[in-house]
Amino acid sequence: MRTSVRWAIHQIYRAVAGSTRGRLRRPCVRWTGRGALGACEGGGDVAGPGRQWWRDAVIYQVYPRSWADSDGDGIGDLPGITERLPHLAELGVDAVWLSPFYTSPQRDGGYDVADYRDVDPLFGDLAAFDALVARAHGLGLRVIVDIVPNHSSDAHPWFRAALASPPGSRERARYLFRDGSDEGRLPPNNWTSMFGGPAWTRVTEPDGTPGQWYLHMFDTSQPDFDWTNPEVRDELEDVLRFWLDRGVDGFRIDVAHGLVKFEDLPDTDLTLDANVDATALAPMWDQPGVHEIYRSWRRLADSYAVEGEDADRILCAEAWVLPAQALAQYVRADELHQSFNFEYLMTPWLPDEQRASITRSLAQAGAVGAPQTWVLSNHDVVRHATRLGYPQHPGLQRIAGIGADDPQPDPVLGLRRARAATAVMLALPGSAYLFQGEELGLPEATRLPDESRQDPTWERSGHTQRGRDGCRVPMPWEGDAPSYGFGPGERSWLPQPAEFGALAVDRQRDDPGSTLSLYRALLAVRRTHRLGLGHLTWLDGHPEDVLAFEVTSEDASVTVLANLGTDPLTLPDSADVLLTSAFPGTAGHVGPDETVWLRS
Ligand code: GLC
Repeated sequence: MRTSVRWAIHQIYRAVAGSTRGRLRRPCVRWTGRGALGACEGGGDVAGPGRQWWRDAVIYQVYPRSWADSDGDGIGDLPGITERLPHLAELGVDAVWLSPFYTSPQRDGGYDVADYRDVDPLFGDLAAFDALVARAHGLGLRVIVDIVPNHSSDAHPWFRAALASPPGSRERARYLFRDGSDEGRLPPNNWTSMFGGPAWTRVTEPDGTPGQWYLHMFDTSQPDFDWTNPEVRDELEDVLRFWLDRGVDGFRIDVAHGLVKFEDLPDTDLTLDANVDATALAPMWDQPGVHEIYRSWRRLADSYAVEGEDADRILCAEAWVLPAQALAQYVRADELHQSFNFEYLMTPWLPDEQRASITRSLAQAGAVGAPQTWVLSNHDVVRHATRLGYPQHPGLQRIAGIGADDPQPDPVLGLRRARAATAVMLALPGSAYLFQGEELGLPEATRLPDESRQDPTWERSGHTQRGRDGCRVPMPWEGDAPSYGFGPGERSWLPQPAEFGALAVDRQRDDPGSTLSLYRALLAVRRTHRLGLGHLTWLDGHPEDVLAFEVTSEDASVTVLANLGTDPLTLPDSADVLLTSAFPGTAGHVGPDETVWLRS
């Protein structure tokens, strides 16, 4: 059968499968508290042998280049992270997730890995990694690391060997090398890279002639692996074991929806727009074959868990997959533990959209017995204190980078809304991910000089997409120190905006109205009331533009009122306020863009 015909049939199959997914689902389980699972109608197995600490965990993302620099070279490193870990223990999170620190030419901030089993000298060495894990565990923090299985760096020994070997060789078969069309002159298909430009690059063969093309869904320096090759599967599983044996508590799986491509790599009509598109009909995303890989990974992770102990090793998918029910397939009981809820991240600060997104998210994850995750910021998107400083419109929000000549956000409104949105998120049942600096209310750096930009998106898009540097600017720790305490000297790999000084950790630590104090309070109340293990009920009788819900756990009930309207909401005299997102709040009222937690 011709590829195009097979592809058309596949598209129809997927459209139908999408609409019947709910019926194909596995039996569900309902979590009723740490260590106890109650079966829903139809029963089901416990998802994993351990006590499942991850179901309500708050996990803090550190982008190693930008958190803390111990040696003054302007780039953060592992010893710097280790030294600053007490900040996370004081904040009250459960785990830290480290973006890649592996040996890498750093063409994509380390998501281009040349050696999966070593630390890049920029960041330290394996001994520094072991010290970090020991310190984190000593502070009661778990450690999750990134795994990048979709592609390696072009500096990886396998890719070098592939370039030095002829077409059809075992070395080439680990990647997606193909002959070009039009007698080799044009790329094998019409796919475009997520960073702009074609997704194919032509190589020069060892004998000097123009040769085959290789696929790279991201930068040219990030060749995609061929996951139909068992050697690739074995190698990546071995990498997982390497880090599990070193004591990590889990992995965040980069581009988890991209590993398997549709057979024969057919042309696509899909226009790719930086990470956001619906993936339903794309031949390079969310192919059914990925699930079998993750079942195998789950068996591997479970083999490290300890029956009855809080020692599960977890797997979390970075999968930009819509709709939510397709994403939920990644977290069925025998697959991954979690996947990032990017649909929630992109939901505008509008009451109907928020309600619908939360309801849908809980239903889809609940249908497969998984906890939902919640996230508002990460190293790939505009920080939420800035996103929310723009007028809000129905539909998915803008997450692409901002430049000095773009419309600028309202920073005061953005921060007020960001605090209110975080107070909603941290009340929701499930697990939450925080991105470094959001606990300080850091805004996106929207006026970075273009010559300082390092995200490959900026160059590859021909200077039309600013890229992601604006959220990656190094952390301010001390308001009066050089580089705001990021390192011992002035150097910082991206310039820090002047407003970072007033937002430094030491300026906020003892200020009861600071964003840092708010995050600490939210995390403390969330933990003591075990809201992450709770059950959400929407409350009637409130104005349309107020999100009103109750979260009930075995230990307590908390009522959450988030005012997304323009008029203050009056609280009843009996209201017992646990905390408010605004400082100072107005007694007896919930102001516009404010969230309060009440004892129910
Ligand atoms: C993921 C990472 C992103 C990286 C890309 C390619 O989306 O989060 O930072 O550029 O994968 O590895």
